Amino acid sequence: MEKRILTGDRPTGPLHLGHYVGSLQNRVRLQHDYDTYILIADIQALTDNFEHPEKLEANVFEVALDYLAVGLDPERVKIVVQSMVPELSELTTYFMNLVTVATLERNPTVKDEIKQRNFKRGVPVGFWSYPISQAADITIFKAELVPVGEDQLPMIEQAREIVRRFNSLYARVLVEPRAMLGQMARLPGTDGGAKMSKSLGNCIYLGDPPETVRKRVMSMFTDPTRIHPTDPGHVEGNPVFTYHDVFNPDKAEVDDLKERYRKGTVGDVEVKRKLFSALDGFLSPIRERRAEFAAQPARVREIIMDGTRKGRAVAQSTMDEVRAAMKLNYKFG
Ligand code: TRP
Repeated sequence: MEKRILTGDRPTGPLHLGHYVGSLQNRVRLQHDYDTYILIADIQALTDNFEHPEKLEANVFEVALDYLAVGLDPERVKIVVQSMVPELSELTTYFMNLVTVATLERNPTVKDEIKQRNFKRGVPVGFWSYPISQAADITIFKAELVPVGEDQLPMIEQAREIVRRFNSLYARVLVEPRAMLGQMARLPGTDGGAKMSKSLGNCIYLGDPPETVRKRVMSMFTDPTRIHPTDPGHVEGNPVFTYHDVFNPDKAEVDDLKERYRKGTVGDVEVKRKLFSALDGFLSPIRERRAEFAAQPARVREIIMDGTRKGRAVAQSTMDEVRAAMKLNYKFG
């Protein structure tokens, strides 16, 4: 049997370059070697945005467009909508017994996110326990590999613990997943901050028009210690060069820019212009594919429904095994 990939995203808005480097690139690269399922995690999106369910449908569609735009092949990859696979909720409930409150409270990503969000009425149980539902996402597909950004590592670790516990308590039904990180653990934001994040306003989105990308690039943070273009500059930790390293296929140009930057013989403006042109070369085909699919909404909906139907069939078959292992496959019923 072909090995499986499962990964996914919360549909909270369009995807950006950070998503690409962290995970989308690996998905595209591995889609022909693995049986690939990509989950649009709309239930997880609700855990901190349940007051605004009306945005979800449009966001699910946008995320699917981003997937198709970056080159995920709809003949190959199954795009699955989380809320349309109710078996996920059932498995989450069973998993709840296998995780302690103390373990959830220690999850570093959830802790960070709670700080960022400043929940006015306290942390909803749904948000705080989403690592359990994410473990169900991964394991219901018996995924071996989970391409994700660095911030998701605690979720994969949680899933592994649950699998070990389930398999030793009941029967060896579930597969222990492995995380796979992108070519860079984390892409910095255009402000030089640790990561690209919608809430920080430091993103370049995959669907951004060229003018928006140009503005973002030209206002990027560079080397704060460099005042004049003739000052020797720092390349390491300079987000403009980090982006060059990732997105500029012309390595000779990048090496030349770095050398001149260190010597103080090239200005920020030239380095940024060249970055814009590299990024534009990278984003243009993505933008075109996005527009093609966006013009065929019925086809995109078809792709989502087809992927979800196939994903649900896998989930149902795993749940038959899970219920049998848990002695819940009663003779009456
Ligand atoms: N938590 C992930 C994010 O915020 C989204 C997600 C939901 C996910 N379920 C998943 C990622 C399963 C990998 C595997 O981006």
